[in-house]
This record gives sequence, structure tokens and C-alpha cells, in this order.
Amino acid sequence: MTEPVDKRRDKNSKSPWVLHGALVIGLVSALIAIYNIPIQFSSSPELDNYGLGTESGICPQVPKLSPRNKQVEQYIREKVDSEEYHRKIINKLSGIIRIPSESYDDLGPIGEDDRWNIFFQVEGYIKASYPTVFANVKLDHANTHGLILTWEGSVPPSEAKPILMLAHQDVVPVLAENVKDWTYPPYDGHYDGEIIWGRGATDDKGYLISIIESVDLLIKSGYKPKRTVILAFGCDEEISGENCGRPISDFLRRQYGDDGIYLIMDEGSTGIQREFDQSFAMVSVAEKGYLDVGINVSSTGGHASNPPDHNVIGILSEIVVAIESNPFSGKVTPKNPMFRFLECGAIHAPESSFPKAVRRKLNKVAQNDIMGQEQLAHSLDDMRYFFQTSQSVGKINGGVKINAIPETASTLINLRLAVETSIAQVEEHYESLVHKIARKHGMAFAGFHSPCNPAEKRKICMFGVDALEPAPVSPVDAEPYRILSGTIKNVLKPLGSDDQLIVTPYLMPANTDTKFFWALTKNIFRFTPVNLVENLNRAHTTDEFIRAEEFVREPLFFATLILNADDVVD
Ligand SMILES: *[C@@H]1O[C@H](CO)[C@@H](O)[C@H](O)[C@H]1NC(C)=O
Repeated sequence: MTEPVDKRRDKNSKSPWVLHGALVIGLVSALIAIYNIPIQFSSSPELDNYGLGTESGICPQVPKLSPRNKQVEQYIREKVDSEEYHRKIINKLSGIIRIPSESYDDLGPIGEDDRWNIFFQVEGYIKASYPTVFANVKLDHANTHGLILTWEGSVPPSEAKPILMLAHQDVVPVLAENVKDWTYPPYDGHYDGEIIWGRGATDDKGYLISIIESVDLLIKSGYKPKRTVILAFGCDEEISGENCGRPISDFLRRQYGDDGIYLIMDEGSTGIQREFDQSFAMVSVAEKGYLDVGINVSSTGGHASNPPDHNVIGILSEIVVAIESNPFSGKVTPKNPMFRFLECGAIHAPESSFPKAVRRKLNKVAQNDIMGQEQLAHSLDDMRYFFQTSQSVGKINGGVKINAIPETASTLINLRLAVETSIAQVEEHYESLVHKIARKHGMAFAGFHSPCNPAEKRKICMFGVDALEPAPVSPVDAEPYRILSGTIKNVLKPLGSDDQLIVTPYLMPANTDTKFFWALTKNIFRFTPVNLVENLNRAHTTDEFIRAEEFVREPLFFATLILNADDVVD
């Protein structure tokens, strides 16, 4: 994969590139002039590689990959097609939905806050539902409710890195006043013969049951893995992951060391979807970053009859306007998995369904033409936050009394960081905007990494609340991605009348528990092996559901993945 130019530049530059695009282009042009660097800024759009279709080598597709052990594969396929199995696995999902394992933002520590105790029920339920699995795996607990199931392979982990599959036991709460809006009560796990309804059906109890069922099927088939298989179930993915996600990752790092895992599968907001009249299996190979920014403006108060020209509310308003007037610019770079997705569209979608303007610009993006990269982001306006750092002012507070001059005003802003940027770059951009306003009003200023001086009366302070760098991009030219791709081709089907399913890298705009696992492997894939067109995405809202027909086949997918990953062990 091509290394994007801006990565190199980021290291040398203290200023965010987003603010200095023109300067950078100037610099690059100067460099080209001086060193005669052969970068083509103007190539004929007619002669690009995308016109060559599949022969271009762009968005290569691997053939379908079948496990070597035909007997085991056959056993699992027959099982997954049987009605008895359907009935049982649907019951298992309904049963786990019936345990309302909600995670709340204000939960205290495990062991102190009794609301965690519901997770003992989840554990008991999983154990009762999968006795064969628990007779064959080693069970470890991370911080009481993080469950780690290890199905040991015959080859030691130092020689064949384990495969890790993640799911979480918790669900987002259903507010009491919203229960009436559900077609079926959220915690009934109602199955109407076609659909399983309830909170957690897709996020993430369907995934949890699918991966443990896949191990159950493999054990019952008599299969003995060479590569160790690990399942890990968090308890707080929907809040912070600090109570289970992080302890699970710490446990695994102690056990297997950095880079000790072969690949990680986790839930994804992506699966089988249709774009540009083409079916895609979208594998999220990266996640955007995250930052909550707080800004507090303080000054002396007084009586409203003798006000200053600008009090803290006015100044904070000026800050908000400055922030919204200077949004981050977007650009499509080769580092962004969405660029790979667009390439896949250009190569594999019907020509008439793929926007010509986009196709023409892909070549420029590939050649690191910065202007072309910005233009492409601009022309994909409805997808812009895949290419751009988003900012959303979510909270504002100030003033207590109509006749008193307010002494403090504060705001909280939520940002989702583009894959090419970093927390430091975003902080610098914000500091430069706000510092200017502080100077203008003669106020003291404390940026993200300076303390907010309590003795100072007139001041603006900035601070980061939750922060997460954009995830490293998982390689798509390495063996694990090929194994996953081949498994997708083998087990999953295109939608409607499409004749092929194209596997493509994709970007997840939200975050999963995988944020704690970066050190364990470069190969992290967020992917739900179901048709997301018909399953819609009702995670986090009313009437969450999953189609039984799709759900019952998920374990076949995960079992095949385990088998295929085992076949590449020497
Ligand atoms: C910022 O203001 C909020 C709301 O008034 C307050 O809760 C918080 O402690 C302040 N933070 C700092 C660093 O001063």
C-alpha cells in the first residue's frame, strides 16, 4: 500500500496541515522544482488505471477459500441447515436478550455498584447454554465480568498466533418512557417466525452467540485446532470499556505479548451492503479517532447595570462561531480505507452506476495530488465525515441570574478525527483559534496541556476530556485479510441479483472495544457477516432486531474463518 505523503509531512510540521494546504502545495511545488521530483499533477484522466478494470490490480479479489477438512466443513454446513439447530440457536439468542444487561454512564466500580450484578446472570446463562464449550475451554475472568474463553490449539501460541473474536455482553439502556414505542417489549426476545426482536439482537448479543456457537459446532464436529482460539466478552463496550475491555486486553497482553495475536474479529457497523448498484462485504480496517474538548471562559461578575462590552457568554459565543467558521478540511488520501472502497467501486461496480467525477479524481488521489484529494472529498459531500474531522458543539452552560453578570461560561465539543490526523493536530488548531480571542479580550489563556490557573480571574481554559487517536489501519495486503476475504467469498452471498460479492476495506466512523487491542495485532477487522440492507441498523434505537435467516448462518462464517486460519499454520 502506498504511504501517503501527508504522514511524512505531519512529522515535520508543528502546524496542522488542514490550515496550511496552500503553503504545503507551495512547498511541494518548490521541492519539485529544486529536486525535480517526478510527481505528476496533471495526468490525463482518460489514461488512468481504473479504466483497465480488474486487470489493473486495483481492489484485487481473492478466490473463495474452503477449509481443507471437508468432513468438518460438511458437518457444520449440514448442522447450520437443519431446523433443529435453527430452533436451538434462536432460543439461545432470545434467552440472552431476556437478560437486560444494560450499561449506564454513571456506573460505579465493579464490586461496588450492584447494577453490575446482572452480568453474573449473563455468565450463568452462557455457561448453561454451552456446556460443551465450557468443558473444552479455559475460562478466565478479567475484572470479574470480562470473560475470556481459550480453546487451546495443538501448536503453541509462540508458533501459531491465536485468533481472537470479541463481543460484548452489555447493551445500551432502554428508557422506561420508550418501552411503549417498541413493537415487542425490548427484553422479551420475541421471535415472530422470521425476526428476533429486542435490545441487543444486533448489538451485540447476536454476534456473541454466533461466535460461541461457531466454537460449539467445531468442538462437536470433533475438530482439534492447531491455532488457539480465544473468545472474549466485554461488559461495558457501550460506556467506556474501562471495566472489561481494557482488563481483557491487559490479560491477553500479559499472556501473549505485543503482536501476539493473529487477527481480531469484532462487531462492525458494516457488513454486506449495496452501493453503486454493487454488493460489497465492507470490512472496517480502521476507526476514526475521538476527542471531547471542553472550553471554560471565566471573568469577574458584577451588577447587570454596569456591564462590560463582552461578558463570558459573549466571548464563549465568539469562540463557538470561530470554531464553526473554521471547520477541518477534508481530503481523500490513500491512507483512508474509504479510498480503497472507492477504488473497488470504480473497478467492480457497473460503470454507469459509479460517478464519473469520482472515477476521474481517484488517479490524482493515488498520486498524492493534494488538490485532487481535496476536490474528491468535496465532491463526495454526503460522505464527507469519512474524510474529514467532524466537530459538534454539544453542550453550553453559562449564567445563573438575569441581573447578574455571569462569571463562567463553558462548552463541550465532540470531535471524530479523520484517519490522517492526530489529537495533537486537532488541539493545535483549536488552540490557535481560541488563543487569538483570548488576546483580543486581554484574557489569560491555558491550552490543553497547561494548567488552568485558579488565581487568574479573567481567563480561557481548554481541556481534553475523552481522547482516542484514530486507529491504525489494518493491512489489506497481508495473509489475515486474505483469509478473511476468502472466507467471506466462500460463505456469504451477494444481494439481490448481483452476480458477485466484492470484499472491500472500509472505515468505521464510531469506536469499538478494539481500541484497547491495537498492541496485540495489526490485523483488526470489524465486520458483521450479515446482510445489513435488510437487517437495517436499529442498534441503539427502538425495535432493534435481527433476521433469523441471516443470524443462523453467522456461526458457519466464524467456524469457516477459524478453519481457514488454521489451514495456514505450518
Ligand atoms: C469548566 O466548567 C465546568 C462547568 O462550569 C466545570 O464543571 C469544570 O470544573 C470547569 N473545568 C475547569 C478545568 O475549570
